[in-house]
Amino acid sequence: MALRKILHVGDETLRGKARPVDVLNRRMLMLLDDMAETMYAAEGVGLAAPQVGVLRRAITIDVGDETGLIQLINPEIIASEGEQEEAEGCLSVPGRRGYVKRPQRVVVRGINRAGKPVEIRAEGLLAVAFCHEIDHLDGVLFIDKMTREVDEEDGEESEA
Ligand code: NI
Repeated sequence: MALRKILHVGDETLRGKARPVDVLNRRMLMLLDDMAETMYAAEGVGLAAPQVGVLRRAITIDVGDETGLIQLINPEIIASEGEQEEAEGCLSVPGRRGYVKRPQRVVVRGINRAGKPVEIRAEGLLAVAFCHEIDHLDGVLFIDKMTREVDEEDGEESEA
């Protein structure tokens, strides 16, 4: 495994639309594992492939709950319910956080690291993380959607 360089806002790759992954080959598994290592090293709760310069639909998430590490390709939100508005940060937008309206609960469908189709029910922070990472796959950043900026003095850091 290896650390990958995280791109910052201003890099055009972050604004591209990621293509679906059609084969879960060794190169793609290596990408997923590098993304997990890079996410943990940066103390983020999520990372999407475009953030490391790869326009493919792959995400990693670990919000520190009992779910643990999630590595998914071709993730899609197939159902959502409710609303929440929490402060978000992003490893690609250093030094800024903002409030974003997201669903309270989502159901996400994708392919896991073992190549198996899975459906994951998520709520709260995990639902936010899925929405945030899947947005990255379509070139969308939280700063595009935030209702207001968070004063850096308050709240705890949680970047994805
Ligand atoms: Ni992000």
